[in-house]
Amino acid sequence: MIAELVLGIVFLFLLWRTFFRKPPGLPPGRWGLPLIGYIPLTMKTVEEQLHDMHKQYGDIFLWRMGTQVMVFLNDYKLTRAAFSSTDFINRPDWTLFNFFEEKALGVAGSNDSQWKNNRRFSLRQLRDMGMGKSKLVAAVQTQATVLVKELKKQAGEAKPFPHALNVTIVNVIWQMVGGQQFDLTDPKLIEFERIMKDLFASMVPFSVPDFLPWITYILPKYFLNHVFQYGFLEDAKERILQFFFSEIEEHRATLDRDNPRDLIDGYLIEMDEKQVDPDVTCNDTDLSILILDLFLGGGESTKGILVWMSYYLATYPEVQRRMQEEVDEVLPKGTLATLEDRIRLPYTEAVLHEVLRKSSLVNLGVQHVAVRDTELGGYIIPKGLIISSAAETMHHNPHYWDRPDEFLPERWLDHEGKFTNSKKEGFLPFGVGKRSCLGESLARMELLIFSTALMQSLSFSHPPGKKIHLRPEPNNPFFRNPQMQDIVITVRH
Ligand code: HEM
Ligand SMILES: *[C@@H]1O[C@H](CO)[C@@H](O)[C@H](O)[C@H]1NC(C)=O
Ligand SMILES: *[C@@H]1O[C@H](CO)[C@@H](O)[C@H](O)[C@H]1NC(C)=O
Ligand SMILES: *[C@@H]1O[C@H](CO)[C@@H](O)[C@H](O)[C@H]1NC(C)=O
Repeated sequence: MIAELVLGIVFLFLLWRTFFRKPPGLPPGRWGLPLIGYIPLTMKTVEEQLHDMHKQYGDIFLWRMGTQVMVFLNDYKLTRAAFSSTDFINRPDWTLFNFFEEKALGVAGSNDSQWKNNRRFSLRQLRDMGMGKSKLVAAVQTQATVLVKELKKQAGEAKPFPHALNVTIVNVIWQMVGGQQFDLTDPKLIEFERIMKDLFASMVPFSVPDFLPWITYILPKYFLNHVFQYGFLEDAKERILQFFFSEIEEHRATLDRDNPRDLIDGYLIEMDEKQVDPDVTCNDTDLSILILDLFLGGGESTKGILVWMSYYLATYPEVQRRMQEEVDEVLPKGTLATLEDRIRLPYTEAVLHEVLRKSSLVNLGVQHVAVRDTELGGYIIPKGLIISSAAETMHHNPHYWDRPDEFLPERWLDHEGKFTNSKKEGFLPFGVGKRSCLGESLARMELLIFSTALMQSLSFSHPPGKKIHLRPEPNNPFFRNPQMQDIVITVRH
């Protein structure tokens, strides 16, 4: 009897040790149960819980969500070290990253030579396109002018941002990729927007099985198809690929090798030159996914920061007034900014950086995965753990920032009013390291040109008797999107 009891206890202990206990050496945090992970019993948002966990566990902690062990980094140096090494260079094996092919193509979700070739290619394209009075700079200026004109139409009314904002941002990417810009009512543009919307809509549900893969074994197929709308996703995938394929065909038919017009031309030329290269990763599908990555990476993010900026300016009229004064002084009426004006616009730069910090739009970055068993911050990180940087937590940590909760553009200026440094410790709106934002230079150019064009002609304010909400849309822990809400636009004279 006793022997059986002892055996039973030993068995339970072994069971617990093998299946239920967090393996020793891993970072502290929420472990929970096998297959389901740790389910919090709280009404707090994920963001609030991450803050609580930072207080409780320190700069590196984990949270098992379903079968995925997520590690959150809250220390800047640790994050920089991790993301600069090759140990965490890959993207996780999630449908989000490889839903077009078994092996992820394009740049945002791919690994290894596929990623390296596309990243190098895209960075070179962006660098060559973004200089001086290039077509891309001119396109950003054109689109900024269109946006100002459209915003003027709703002057004096309390309304949310118009559809034109979406279109102007999308048009900048279209210029870079396909050498064209669309009118607000162009049917081709409307078709493109519809497909992108459908694709977005089907993205959230299909991520669930990445965290709970076993449900695909126990639940009937028709039920899964219904809940995750695989048919809808397949359809959206097919439509977006066809859309890009026909764009690529048009480019191929009119290609002039000595005068590449845009990124598609550049890719086609490179694809031709590399035909004999054994390490070649180019084909039309890869190019299509690369294009999609640029739209997905450069759309919502840039738009979100501009909307956040308008909300902060409406909330802090004194900041807006100073920004307008600077813009009026540096850019005579009718002239639009170029990147070269940046050094003469320190206050504008300070406002943009403070908006990037306070909004922390891409809060948890884009996830990385441990490529091999490794060590980080004194803990063991086994291969396959998912690594996220917690930008919002770092952006509000008093260790890095004086009075972190306040909106203070002045923190970016020295005592002579010069802009100090965009590479401050604890600041990573674009991520850091080998996978950091590919479009950072374009995003910075867009933000400078759009924000100065807006301030030359317009002012933002809150609707009478109402405050602007400066909390992000709830329910999305990964992106701190601004809430769509009414704002009042006034034309300056
Ligand atoms: C204000 C605007 C933007 C913000 C705040 C932003 C932020 C970020 C962040 C935080 C990451 C993840 C870094 C990581 O994995 O550690 C990222 C990746 C990326 N971004 Fe941006 N981004 C912006 C604009 C753009 C634009 C305009 C483009 C394209 C034209 C773009 C394209 C990409 C791509 C392709 C990646 C994936 C890079 C890779 O996996 O190697 N982003 N961005
Ligand atoms: C990227 O590499 C990781 C491991 O390093 C792997 O788990 C993942 O499946 C790869 N992603 C894709 C989309 O191939
Ligand atoms: C514009 O973008 C926002 C999100 O950034 C979205 O909610 C809205 O539906 C878009 N508008 C149109 C007309 O597509
Ligand atoms: C394109 O190339 C990738 C590998 O780089 C490959 O997996 C894929 O099947 C290719 N697609 C086509 C249509 O050739």
